[in-house]
Amino acid sequence: MIPPFTPALPEPYVRAVMPAIEQILRSGKLVLGEHTTAFEAAAAAMAGSAHAVAVNSGTTALEIIFRAIGVRDRVVLVPTNTNYATAAAALQAGARLRLYDGGLYPDLADVEHRLDSDVAAVVVVHIGGYLSPDLARLAGMCAQAGIPLIEDAAHAHGSRTGEIRAGSFGYTAAWSFFTTKVISTGGEGGAITTNAPDLVTTARTARDQGKDRTGFHVMAGSSWRMTEIGAAIGLVQFSHLDRDRHIRRTVIDRYSRYLGGHGLTFPALAADEDVSGHKCVAVLEQGIDRDRLRHLVAERGVVLARGVYDQPLHRQPVFADLGLGDVFPAADDFAARHICLPLWTAMDSASIDRVITAVTTSINDL
Ligand SMILES: Cc1ncc(COP(=O)(O)O)c(C=O)c1O
Repeated sequence: MIPPFTPALPEPYVRAVMPAIEQILRSGKLVLGEHTTAFEAAAAAMAGSAHAVAVNSGTTALEIIFRAIGVRDRVVLVPTNTNYATAAAALQAGARLRLYDGGLYPDLADVEHRLDSDVAAVVVVHIGGYLSPDLARLAGMCAQAGIPLIEDAAHAHGSRTGEIRAGSFGYTAAWSFFTTKVISTGGEGGAITTNAPDLVTTARTARDQGKDRTGFHVMAGSSWRMTEIGAAIGLVQFSHLDRDRHIRRTVIDRYSRYLGGHGLTFPALAADEDVSGHKCVAVLEQGIDRDRLRHLVAERGVVLARGVYDQPLHRQPVFADLGLGDVFPAADDFAARHICLPLWTAMDSASIDRVITAVTTSINDL
């Protein structure tokens, strides 16, 4: 069976990271060492930001940002089409949640409609690594309202529009290096990128039990550090990021060329746009039974993931008592109709062809 993706690192990456892991284990410097510092420089460069602070997960990165902004008892505006973690981190920091609508991209009219003086922060999520063509307008809208825009860039490693990189649109960005991501730091990891030095100081203190440089605990924090081994693994992946992104984009373009229009629509990508290739998203024509399609495709040896998120936040039981509302038509439509085609960096050409044939023949058989 062709899987939706594999978290396994290509063999040359495995070999490249081994000397660093041995060096780290022998040195006894397991956290907050030279590999973390180098990883932070690479993460800042990816985001086009002055600074990065490495942490243990994307959820932590978001929570630290929310705490630093001071969202307690205020509203954080979050897309309903996102990962549980985006909202959970805001709640952890003491915020009240408010959801806005959107499919692959945010519905700006809905964001505008829900912005008021209670809102302490707006979050935009680059779903699958795709950047909304409206990001500059969203950033302008937030700037005009004096509200920080936070990019949840968990999926957007290296995505960019022209010269503007994911991570450069807002006040700060949160990154995830969890197992499924393009860069995966050994299973868990995250980072905050920003140009704001005060946020950097707060994040560095918070991730180390709230300890300042003199060893006093000056604020609430936790054990939110990235490990040196995780940073070393991520550094090897960073050194291949441009090439890997190019390869993933080639796969996406091939899918789009052969499957686009045959019951599937692919997001339009501008000539000067780079996607991370975390996911290859396609939206099914109205009326196509996604479960039946997945079944037929599976019979031909290909596992189709259902979607980036099957259920938007307003349908998640854990948030049922929060009064978040249930009228989010764009999110519901997107959740019901999109699929993700198999994609990983070392995917071979024969597998890509098998996916194309399996999807084409299954759509014909529907
Ligand atoms: C959009 C988004 N934000 C945040 C997170 C949380 O990241 P992590 O799993 O590293 O905590 C994820 C999931 O991985 C995600 O998909």
